[in-house]
Amino acid sequence: MTLPDACVFCLVSGCLLLLLLPATRGCPKSCVCIRRSDGLDVSCSHARLRAVPSDIPADTVLLRLDHNLIDAVPDRAFRGLARLRELNLSHNAVETLGEGALRGVESTLRTLDLSHNRISRVHRDAFARLHARVLIGDNPWHCDCTLQQALRVMAHNHEAAGRVRCHSSPLLDHREGQPFLTMDADLCNLAKRTTDYAMLVTMFGWFAMVVSYVVYYVRQNQEDARRHLEYLKSLPSKAPGRPEETEDASTAV
Ligand SMILES: *[C@@H]1O[C@H](CO)[C@@H](O)[C@H](O)[C@H]1NC(C)=O
Repeated sequence: MTLPDACVFCLVSGCLLLLLLPATRGCPKSCVCIRRSDGLDVSCSHARLRAVPSDIPADTVLLRLDHNLIDAVPDRAFRGLARLRELNLSHNAVETLGEGALRGVESTLRTLDLSHNRISRVHRDAFARLHARVLIGDNPWHCDCTLQQALRVMAHNHEAAGRVRCHSSPLLDHREGQPFLTMDADLCNLAKRTTDYAMLVTMFGWFAMVVSYVVYYVRQNQEDARRHLEYLKSLPSKAPGRPEETEDASTAV
């Protein structure tokens, strides 16, 4: 190999290395990555992270994000992590979870830990496509129809619903800290019933107005008819059936 040849070789291999680098991205800042036989364990616990890192390696199978300051999980936050099996977001400040937050990892995820956060509401379909074991306890849940719907689609996941304690609820007699499962009220029907009542009251109001108008109209007409009749009765003597009287009168004159 001549000197220029060696240079070309170096250049080409350097370029190849640069091209390959993004595919085998390094470990995200303030995380520890450990290679296992089936993929990468990425551990970012206690790292004061305020958001989900955007440079998580694609072959991550276990992602620990617990004990951070993450307050939101944006849509498709974990896209590209086609092998992610376990996601631990416990002990963060997550407030809501959008419909598309777990888009892309729904089919592979086996465990999702969202416990000890600040979640009070989730989208109705937030967990719809998950096959994972989901931990959602120790959050200030607002127990309403939407939550009932979100949990209903996880029928395979009794554990999830079992640990939900209500922080607030549209039910008036609800006590704070009540487990969700013991609230056997159908919260969706409750909402529906309330609107039904409002509808009923409005309809009754309209009906009452129409009826009173009809009654008033009929009364008024009756009065008119009676007066008309009296007027007809009071008309003098052209009335049929008493012709003699008229004759009598005329002869008397
Ligand atoms: C998630 O992390 C917390 C804190 O380290 C731990 O207690 C919990 O067991 C983990 N969750 C799962 C499902 O392993």
